[in-house]
Amino acid sequence: MRPEAPVALQILPAPPDALGRALADLRISVIDRCNFRCPYCMPEEAYPADHAFLRARDRLDFDEIERLARIFVSLGVRKLRLTGGEPLLRRDLPVLVARLAAIAGVEDLALTTNGMLLPKLAQPLRDAGLRRITVSMDSVDPVVFRSMSGGRGELAQVEAGIAAAERAGFAPVKINSVVMRGVNDDGVLDLVARFRGTGHVVRFIEYMDVGTVNGWRGDRVVPGAELVARIDAHWPLEALPRSAASTSRRWRFRDGAGEIGFINSVTEPFCGGCTRARLSADGSLYTCLFARAGHDLRALLRGGESDAGLRAVVAGIWSLRGDRYSERRAELRAAGVLEHVEMYRIGG
Ligand code: GTP
Ligand code: 5AD
Ligand code: SF4
Ligand code: SF4
Repeated sequence: MRPEAPVALQILPAPPDALGRALADLRISVIDRCNFRCPYCMPEEAYPADHAFLRARDRLDFDEIERLARIFVSLGVRKLRLTGGEPLLRRDLPVLVARLAAIAGVEDLALTTNGMLLPKLAQPLRDAGLRRITVSMDSVDPVVFRSMSGGRGELAQVEAGIAAAERAGFAPVKINSVVMRGVNDDGVLDLVARFRGTGHVVRFIEYMDVGTVNGWRGDRVVPGAELVARIDAHWPLEALPRSAASTSRRWRFRDGAGEIGFINSVTEPFCGGCTRARLSADGSLYTCLFARAGHDLRALLRGGESDAGLRAVVAGIWSLRGDRYSERRAELRAAGVLEHVEMYRIGG
């Protein structure tokens, strides 16, 4: 049942937040479950098989997600990204993709996945109107890969997923790799070698203190600059220009074999250009990856709030936003601010 017909809403951008940042991206988590247990996100000990994830009725349904997406687009969002947990576990995901792709004003529709279910789903997602795909891959060594997925991932299947994405017309595929010192950092050059020259773009991500249970330690972070130096010594690199809203610092191989990126959220934070809002699968709006709590939009949706009312609430939340956790990490951690929403609830 749809409370209001999905007519196109007039686009009237939300006022900038308290630090002058526009609302331009919405990352939508469609499910909090995952078929992996990556140690940096959902360590096995903290999330055993009987962990209580959201029940289906607690998750926003497709009508509710589409309605909120339309509200956000009417407030200036141009870019949607679907995340999880693992988004491909959400039943009928291509149906949702088709509905989001049909919203006037959506210029970019992307998805972040661990790739395990991609062999079957790449083509249906493409057919539904998905534009871009990012696949997580922390190692090209099958043993290390498996261990970094909490013993659940099969490297060959994720490789097959990337190949299926390529065949379906996703090009380039972005490959996200979280680097942890002493865990997978010795495999960085192998990862670069695997994707150099394929057209796909590997991005190395600094291990972050997201959530509360990943046992984060600063000495496990490998600064992106250190990786650039290591890679440059093998395959000379040249920096590419960077847009303020981007998470990634881009570099190209001087020999023309493509580009790679570095998401240095710990050593080189990028809060200044952060235009990203995040919606959890149960319909809470988070204004930062490190927020302690979200704003419950589901209660408003299910309580019969009008589109105009929802727009006003979201615009109001955005206008008060002052988050810049990564820039204040040291100070906030020292002050004991360690409560953050878990990453699997709001995606990357
Ligand atoms: P593009 O649209 O392709 O530029 O994607 P993106 O840069 O948004 O990248 P993606 O969604 O693949 O995010 C990559 C990773 O960057 C995430 O998994 C997070 O680890 C990290 N990341 C993304 N957004 C933020 C953010 O707002 N803050 C912080 N600290 N990290 C982020
Ligand atoms: N540090 C950095 N990135 C993380 N991700 C999840 N947990 C962390 C963390 N602790 C990101 C990874 C993964 C995506 C879904 O979320 O990039 O690919
Ligand atoms: Fe699952 Fe992604 Fe978290 Fe790994 S990082 S446990 S694949 S949600
Ligand atoms: Fe945006 Fe928060 Fe990440 Fe800073 S730490 S870039 S404000 S999500």
